[in-house]
Order: sequence, then C-alpha cells, then structure tokens
Amino acid sequence: MVFGSELMVERQAERPERGATVHVVGVRELLRHLPVLRDRPEEVLLSWGRRASRWQIALPGSRACLLFDPPAVEAVLRRGSLSKRTFQYRELERLTGRGLLNDEGESWRAARRLLSLPFGRRAVEAARPELEDEVRRFFDGWRVGQERELGGELCLLSARMLRRFLRVTFSARTVVESVEQAVDHIFERSRNPWRRWSPWAAVRFAEARAALWREAARLRSWPPMDGLPPARALAEATTLLVAGHETVASSLVWAALLCAETPVARERLVGDPRFARWVYQEAVRLFPPAWLITRRVEEGFGLEGLGPGTLVVLSPYVTQRLWFPEGERFIPERFQSEPEAPSGRYFPFGLGPRVCVGRELALVEGPIVLQELFSRFRLQVLRRPKVRAGITLRPDGGLPVRLEPA
Ligand code: HEM
Repeated sequence: MVFGSELMVERQAERPERGATVHVVGVRELLRHLPVLRDRPEEVLLSWGRRASRWQIALPGSRACLLFDPPAVEAVLRRGSLSKRTFQYRELERLTGRGLLNDEGESWRAARRLLSLPFGRRAVEAARPELEDEVRRFFDGWRVGQERELGGELCLLSARMLRRFLRVTFSARTVVESVEQAVDHIFERSRNPWRRWSPWAAVRFAEARAALWREAARLRSWPPMDGLPPARALAEATTLLVAGHETVASSLVWAALLCAETPVARERLVGDPRFARWVYQEAVRLFPPAWLITRRVEEGFGLEGLGPGTLVVLSPYVTQRLWFPEGERFIPERFQSEPEAPSGRYFPFGLGPRVCVGRELALVEGPIVLQELFSRFRLQVLRRPKVRAGITLRPDGGLPVRLEPA
C-alpha cells in the first residue's frame, strides 16, 4: 500500500464502495491515454475517479498521485504543510511574481493577514451596492435581439467589478487581454514543451506581462499595499488581477449556460437572492474554474506514506461530481441543506489555510450578475461550448448567445 495511516482514515464517505483503492498507472497506460489527456484531461480524470479514488502515477524519476476522495482532500489541504512548488505555481509565478497565490512560510502569512480583512465578508457586503451598480451599468447597453459572446463580455464585467471593489483605476480591457494572452501562453507551454524554446512566444508573453504590470502598478495606491515593499506590492497586485477576474468570468459563463438550459432555475433566481446563490454554488460545483489543485510533498513535511518530492494532484471537478448524489445533474436546491463551509467533497475555492482569499467576493459577485442578466434577458445559446480544461475550466470558443426578452 502506498499511503500511510493518515490518508487511510476512511470517514465512510458518500461513496464507500470505491473506498481508498489505489490504482497504479504505469508508463504504458499513461501513453495510451496521452492523446485524450491532452485534449480532454477533465474527462480522463473523471473516468479514473469512477474506477478508483486514489491513483499513483509511476514514471521513471518522478512520482505523482491523484487523490479524489474527500478524506484525502481534507488531509492534503487542511494541514497546509505541503508545498506549492509545482509546475502549476512555478508557471504562474513567471506572470505574477511571488505573491499570495504561490508564496509560502512567514512572508505568505504576513501577506495573507494584510489582505484577509479587505476581502472579508463585511468588506464585501459593504461593497454590494457598488457592485450592483457596476453590473446594472454594464447591462444597460445591451438590447434584445443582439448577439453577444458571453465569455469575453463576462471577463470584462468581472474585471470591472474587481476595479470597483478595489476602488482603483485601471484599464479593465488591458487587464483582460493581457491576462488572457499570458495565461494562454502558460497553458500552451504545458501542452507543448517545444514552445519553451520559441523566441516569439517568449516575446509575446513578456509584452503581455509588461502590459499587465503597468496596470497592476496602479493598485499600489490601494491602502493595504502600503505595508508592503514595492516589489511585493506589485506581485500582490498582479496576483489579484490574475486570480480575481477570469475565474469569476468562467464560473459565470457556465452558470449562465446552465440557467439558459434550465428555465425553472432561471425564472426562480431572478426574484430569490438565496436561490441565486445556490445556482452559483451549484455552477462552481459542476464547473469549478480552478479544476486542478497541486501540491508537492517536501522532505520532513508531507503526509505519512507519500515520499518527498511526490506531486499531489486534487481535482474539485472530479470529486464534486462523484461525491454528490446525482452529481452530474444541475440541482441548485441541494445547497439548501449543504453546509456553507468548504469541505473535502466541495472545495471550488480550495480548503484550509490556503482557501481562496476572494471567495466571499466571488460568492457575492456571481449571484448579482446572474440576477441582473436574467431579469433582463433570456439567452438563446447559439453554440454550446465544449470544456477547455486549461489553467481554468473555460468554455472553448466562448459562449455566443442571442438576447431574447426575459
Ligand atoms: C469563482 C471565482 C474563484 C475561484 C473558483 C477561485 C478558486 C481558488 C482556489 C481553488 C484557490 C486555492 C488554490 C490552492 O489551494 O492551491 C484560490 C486561491 C486564491 N484566490 Fe481565488 N478563486 C476565485 C476568485 C478569486 C477572486 C475574486 C480573488 C481576488 C480578487 C481571488 C484571489 C485568490 C488568491 C490571492 C488566492 C491565494 C490565497 C492563498 O494562498 O492565501 N480568487 N482561489
């Protein structure tokens, strides 16, 4: 058995039949899955999750394991002692510098303390009227009969909401465009190692990053940044711009699609804020933007039974679909009795000490946008997008819709 006692503590989860079986994938099996893994990684992982809840990938010179069952997720994320020194975070660091998302130890703790209050529930609730106003203004320009591509539009709206929340002036469009370009570059590098040697790709990435940093520099006037050295403030500002808009936008596109396909939910959410929140929570259960979370086991730190250097991969996408009854169906009402706090089977915003600092903000922004959008329009979906599982879970090619009367 690969894992030690800690991970083997079974809380007789909701899917006891799979227990904590560990399935070992060798090089040959991995190669067989490679083409689909490149194109539809989320589907492969989901099918693996149906077969076994813990997987070990045995490659010469490297060790990785995928853990899908809630007790394992809790063990990994609650302790917060596994490191973030993984490919995912190293790549993001090239864009953001060392900030809250990828830092560790005392400097992470200090930054987290600084940012927790401004992103706390009270601060977010206080900003609600302004966020509502921003969203109203955004949709004021929309008319019945128009065709819109919701992916791009909601990215812009999410960046504007963030700007309004932070009360800082930056170009939302530049932020959206530069983050998209830079994140696409990072994603392509992970799919195609040859790209690492492409000078053109490197130049385009550097240009996108420079544009983003220029906008991020404006956040230095945001009061919490006062307590930080300039380089650190820039890294935190860039982190907020990167982590704080595209995730929200992706979640909203999927939520909008689910509502467009479920008239009862769409009609009910307009007049019922509580239901709008459940719809949003259910959307991020089915389509969690941060669909993969990675950690590295370090010498003297990690989990008993997982050797130093092991890459640990968790997937809210897989766990949240497999550990809920009728987990692949859109049932917002399930959140009536679901606890608010993140858990090992519901962690779209992560869990434990590294839980998303923007969680409260996203949970307020999402329902506001859905209520405003659907109080004005019905959406005729012109093309149902496939999932594009990159750094985040995005709709491939966006979501083109025609606006119909509500
Ligand atoms: C639907 C929207 C969002 C989703 C699904 C999401 C998801 C996540 C997840 C899963 C993590 C934990 C990653 C890990 O443990 O490795 C995280 C961390 C983080 N998120 Fe979000 N996020 C969202 C919105 C936001 C917003 C609006 C902001 C800020 C404006 C933000 C800023 C951050 C930061 C700074 C961290 C790092 C926290 C730390 O490690 O201390 N996120 N997010």
